[in-house]
Amino acid sequence: ASSPMLESLLAKMTVAEKAGQLTLMAAAWAGGAANALNPITAGATFESQLADVRNGRLTGVFNGNGAEMARRMQTVAMKEARLKIPLLFAADVIHGFRTVFPVPLAEAGSFEPDLAERTARVAAIEAAAAGIDWTFAPMVDISRDQRWGRGVEGAGEDVLLGRMMAAARVRGFQGTRGLAADDAVLACAKHFVAYGAAEGGLDYNSVDISERTLRSVYFPPFQAAFDAGALTTMAAFNDLSGIPATANPWLLDQVLRKEWGFGGLVVSDYTGDEELIAHGYAADAREATRLAFLAGVDMSMQSGFYRDHLPDLVASGAVPMARLDQAVRRVLRVKLALGLFDDPFRRIDPKREKTRVRTKANLAVARESARRSIVLLKNDGELLPLPRSGKRIALIGPFAQGQQDLIGPWNVYGSDAESVDLVTGVRAAVADPSLVTATAGSGIEEALPGGIAAAVAAATAADIVVLAIGEGQRMSGEAQSRDDIVIPAPQLALAAAVAATGKPVVVALRNGRALALSGAVLDAPAILVTWFLGSQSGPAIADILFGVEGPSARLPVSFPFATGQEPYYYAHKSTGRPNPPGAPLEYKAHYREAPNGARFAFGHGLTYGRIGYSALNVGDGRLAWDGTLSVAATITNSGDHVAEEVVQLYVQDIAASITQPVRVLKAFRKIRLAPGAQQEVTFTLQRTDLTFLGVALTPTVEPGRFRVWVAPSAEAEGVGGTFELIGA
Ligand code: IFM
Repeated sequence: ASSPMLESLLAKMTVAEKAGQLTLMAAAWAGGAANALNPITAGATFESQLADVRNGRLTGVFNGNGAEMARRMQTVAMKEARLKIPLLFAADVIHGFRTVFPVPLAEAGSFEPDLAERTARVAAIEAAAAGIDWTFAPMVDISRDQRWGRGVEGAGEDVLLGRMMAAARVRGFQGTRGLAADDAVLACAKHFVAYGAAEGGLDYNSVDISERTLRSVYFPPFQAAFDAGALTTMAAFNDLSGIPATANPWLLDQVLRKEWGFGGLVVSDYTGDEELIAHGYAADAREATRLAFLAGVDMSMQSGFYRDHLPDLVASGAVPMARLDQAVRRVLRVKLALGLFDDPFRRIDPKREKTRVRTKANLAVARESARRSIVLLKNDGELLPLPRSGKRIALIGPFAQGQQDLIGPWNVYGSDAESVDLVTGVRAAVADPSLVTATAGSGIEEALPGGIAAAVAAATAADIVVLAIGEGQRMSGEAQSRDDIVIPAPQLALAAAVAATGKPVVVALRNGRALALSGAVLDAPAILVTWFLGSQSGPAIADILFGVEGPSARLPVSFPFATGQEPYYYAHKSTGRPNPPGAPLEYKAHYREAPNGARFAFGHGLTYGRIGYSALNVGDGRLAWDGTLSVAATITNSGDHVAEEVVQLYVQDIAASITQPVRVLKAFRKIRLAPGAQQEVTFTLQRTDLTFLGVALTPTVEPGRFRVWVAPSAEAEGVGGTFELIGA
């Protein structure tokens, strides 16, 4: 619903001013982060943007630089512009503001939506203190092809985890005190839709996908974000089965508005409207504007197309005034909801900006979230945790030391220079810091002259090696697709040389995606996945290395045997010729060179305890149509350390009118077990948990038999059985 105030404002606006309300530009504030990140803005100056504000040609800016910039721009809007419409300040606050949290993919591995909500809350408090009203987050794209670089910004391959993380992050950004609160930041679920399904994992590439897959896999996290209150969404760059998402009326009008009743705002992804020309969908700028706008993109980011072409399109009748008014209303409503008409300066307070960012408490949350995002892939002979005294430790690898590659991709406001590296974290954790050495041994993608010899010498002089290798932070993120998701060759050579010393090696991987591990890296007795952990990387890794806390995260994406398996995801279909482990491979679905499974499956992750699953109990195995079925299993820790286990419930529909995945995660619970403790974990299933999209693409539940597992990963047996859904 609109308000009389907004309607009277709308009535006063010229068409040019209306188009201005639909025009968002990267901030040109001199020296700000924006110039580096948004090269197209190089043409604009801060003065030229102030002139645009004065003339009502700008709705706001994004990726600007703090409260002082916002104060100056907002003052012009409120004092010098004809209609005094407050500006909107947006930014990519993806995984923290100045306090940087783990990349979202890593944090998803915590399997703790509450943690994601808390880090998003802290990010919002910091960002809002710096004048930001709107974040282009959460990124809720499901990513099932690890070659794609932007999986690092999302929650991985699974629909349930994706939905839960999407909702949690929206709640965190927007807070619980209403959007007008001075520490609430408006969320934007992006990129709508199926951006993560780019062919070949190539960023920006076309997506050709069935409506069933869209609705079953790619839509649900967006629906969860909207249900949690996200008032904005960003149209994706990609072509969607022949019609680019940015100009797709079925997507943006039929599904989003009519089916889901979304009443918020749709913004283009950067120059997504302009890119309709390169897609071969629009002949020129005018047509691109018309197609994007009529399809349902309300606000244009960065191209200036709406500002430049909408007035003429409206004058010629090609775009109805009613559509223009509708889009402007949506923008004004968002500004109203954010409280900007009451107080345009509510999030602009240079004093608050100083006191609310990078506080001790916020950095403590960064350390906690980083620690709880680390996955232990293997731990042969219980090499980990390491003793804190009496051992010489050689940290070897390009990520052993130095303030680079700590915060990960897509953090505009944080910096590596403000983050703690591995050697600093480890030295602070041990009894005698002089026993800890750090040697690069190799560059990230190039060998280092003399590097291997130095590394071998360091390993030889040590009792234990921690090999800090993997991907640099420019190897994932936007436009960072990889055709081979392996550790770069010079680092593999380093790993082999270090392993040859015979010293026990703990691999600490730095990575923004699942990797295909091999050679000495895979053979190392212990492997930790440490992703990009943000401000407190080093201390958090040290916490896990020395067992201050045990590893409690699980893989949010499957690590394949080889890149050629991609897209690989656990919830795949069976095929008519599956190849269960141990069966003869001939004429079964398999590659000549690699098994058709995960090296480390979704959900996998070890603890410092010794975890066992037993005693599955599905009662009489009959789920009545309107009833519930309890599925219980006993989880035991027979080790000597406290363990946190993510107990996962998977189901397979054995025969259905639409073929179903081999397993689907239906629920999970993270539990804490003292040494020697055991706990029965009970899940409750009901008919609606077994819903799929039937032949007519409507939610369908069919009676019949189901397999069920309570297991420690998507490909582990855990304990399994069957049950039957009894028809009505
Ligand atoms: O929010 C981002 C988006 O994810 C990728 N293109 C640019 C936008 C604004 O920075």
